[in-house]
Amino acid sequence: MSERKRPIVAIDGPAGAGKSTVARRLADALGYVLVDTGAMYRAVALAATRAGVPWNDGERVAGLARGIVGAHSLAFERDGALGVRVKLEGEDVSEAIRTPDIAQGASTVSAHGEVRAVLFDLQRQAGEGGGVVLEGRDIGTVVFPDAEVKFFLTASAEVRARRRHEELVAKGQNITFDETLADVKERDARDEGRAVAPLRKAETAVLVDSTPLTIDETVAFMLVKVREVAPAL
Ligand code: DC
Repeated sequence: MSERKRPIVAIDGPAGAGKSTVARRLADALGYVLVDTGAMYRAVALAATRAGVPWNDGERVAGLARGIVGAHSLAFERDGALGVRVKLEGEDVSEAIRTPDIAQGASTVSAHGEVRAVLFDLQRQAGEGGGVVLEGRDIGTVVFPDAEVKFFLTASAEVRARRRHEELVAKGQNITFDETLADVKERDARDEGRAVAPLRKAETAVLVDSTPLTIDETVAFMLVKVREVAPAL
């Protein structure tokens, strides 16, 4: 292991694979800090919408992101059952960033290299001390290629869409399963196909296909893997 006393755990994978839930459970079990990097892209997409900046204008979105990071106006606060609350300029935007519209916006703004560069620094600062679980798309490949433990968490598109659909319906959103599946596939194509930091499994990442697994089984398997690397925990 590197000079870090406690490891960095990187969890990458496509939308709806259960990363958020699994990352939160893993961080709780290990007593680590949780960093949801997707929430950062979502917050930037929301800020762009509110400022009237089109998601596909990389330069302006990056300028906006730089302003937000520079002013420390993006904050994450740990909140027991809900994981992490996301605050943008003091406002709790945890729900506002979880809509299908903002999901597409996050995927669009995250394709710009200049936007990624701004959030890269924020993610490095959040994780470099170790004792942290970071979830995203490029943590094990780009942000922390030296992470001690890397996972690539995936599941079939249908299963991911079914889970996402159930979540959205439970939140009272009016969306069909077919629309959710189309959204999942559209986001996969964009996240995997972009030129900068595309979604892919790091060579050294442990592949976890959660299609046939419950959340408990997935977390249990991953905990065993973390403890293999960091047995003192
Ligand atoms: O994990 P999520 O659904 O909250 O992520 C929202 C979008 O942000 C996702 O479509 C791709 C992008 N993203 C990224 O490009 N890199 C990351 N490390 C995390 C998220």
